[in-house]
Amino acid sequence: MPSQPLAPPPMQPAQPAAVVPSAPPAPGAPVVIRAAGVGKKFVAYHKRATSLKERFVRRDTTSGEDFWALRDIDVEIGRGQTVGLAGANGSGKSTLLKVLAGILRPTHGSVSVSGRIASLLELGAGFNGELSGRDNVYLNASLLGLSKREIDRLFDSIVDFSELRHKIDDEVKHYSSGQYVRLGFAVAVHVDPDVLLVDEVLAVGDEAFQRKCLAKIAQFRDEGRTILFVTHSLDLIENMCDRILVLESGGLIFDGQPVVGTKLLRQRLGSLPADSPIPFDLAPVKPTAVAFSRNPGGPTEVQYDPGEQLTVSVELDLTDSAPQYVYLHVEIMGQGEIPIWMMETPPGGVSPGPGTAVVDFVVPRLPELLGAFAINVRVSDAATGQPVTVRRFEELFGVSGPQVAGLLKVDYEARLRR
Ligand SMILES: Nc1ncnc2c1ncn2[C@@H]1O[C@H](COP(=O)(O)OP(=O)(O)O)[C@@H](O)[C@H]1O
Ligand SMILES: [Mg+2]
Repeated sequence: MPSQPLAPPPMQPAQPAAVVPSAPPAPGAPVVIRAAGVGKKFVAYHKRATSLKERFVRRDTTSGEDFWALRDIDVEIGRGQTVGLAGANGSGKSTLLKVLAGILRPTHGSVSVSGRIASLLELGAGFNGELSGRDNVYLNASLLGLSKREIDRLFDSIVDFSELRHKIDDEVKHYSSGQYVRLGFAVAVHVDPDVLLVDEVLAVGDEAFQRKCLAKIAQFRDEGRTILFVTHSLDLIENMCDRILVLESGGLIFDGQPVVGTKLLRQRLGSLPADSPIPFDLAPVKPTAVAFSRNPGGPTEVQYDPGEQLTVSVELDLTDSAPQYVYLHVEIMGQGEIPIWMMETPPGGVSPGPGTAVVDFVVPRLPELLGAFAINVRVSDAATGQPVTVRRFEELFGVSGPQVAGLLKVDYEARLRR
């Protein structure tokens, strides 16, 4: 659904790419999506130009700074692959999809996609707000290469899928963002695409519709179509994809097996990017305290035996601007700053609301691991994966046992053989 191709900015060398373990498409499968040395530069102004005049003045004085949203991306995706595209906010996911969809021109390199591409990109891309839903269906589907007769035949099914029959003759500018996405997705999946590109916009729909979309994506996957979709749900990538691409600051930092990539991503998202630390005091969600007890809400205790129950309670202080869904990642740190195990909230996070809240992590049986342990807490926005803050607590709890030497209690027998 191409809309506004940008004029290509002047050429500039891209920054060096990260080293990427490459995951070639399955042997024998023809390559349907290819990006070779793709870089995309935007000009970022410190201050937004507010008037046409200012924009001209700014162009004259060239106070803009080059900003590489994508650098040196090399990817080949084979027919039938289902690929998850992940990375923190601003890492370039939407830009990469737009470049592949032909909506943005790469500054460097080239892309090619064979077959019919249907895409559901960022909100609004591809729709004309002044037209009705009905006209937009015709416009979009014809841009994707369908004849009027074909669209006539599909129209009812598209409208049924979108669940928007009651609004189909309203101008699209009166649609909610969820309704936009429903119509966009309905068109995208009805045009019989060979390649489906989906941005994370699916997340704006309600849950029932999201499920329906995911079922459709799964059906496409089973039919052997090629799918590239952006999601913050790492579980979804693990469950549905053959492959994950991870972007960081416009570079491809991983291309390969979903379970490996999601692990890497969890590590990367768990730590604050060095160039944009949020001062702890300004964080909208602050872990203010940790406490150890046997039972949630019970008296504080710091000494435990292996096999006992332990509750680690993390107290949070949330401002009004805190994300609605908060994701906690708690590391139990052993001597020498070695993380011994970790505990996390469910992937969707918890919704503590503003004020103070306590998240209890209950360990029913402590492992046979002796020592004193400290706690690291990382907080992120569950909806976006964006890190919020991280805090290391000095409070320790101890696990002691009958044996004094060694860190780990291991069952064994001593036998004499001669
Ligand atoms: N049209 C644009 N002009 C200038 N900067 C842009 C433009 N589109 C995106 N960017 C910047 O490029 C970076 C990557 O954006 P995007 O691809 O939307 O990231 P993601 O989808 O991973 O959140 C961001 O820093 C964003 O601000
Ligand atoms: Mg995006």
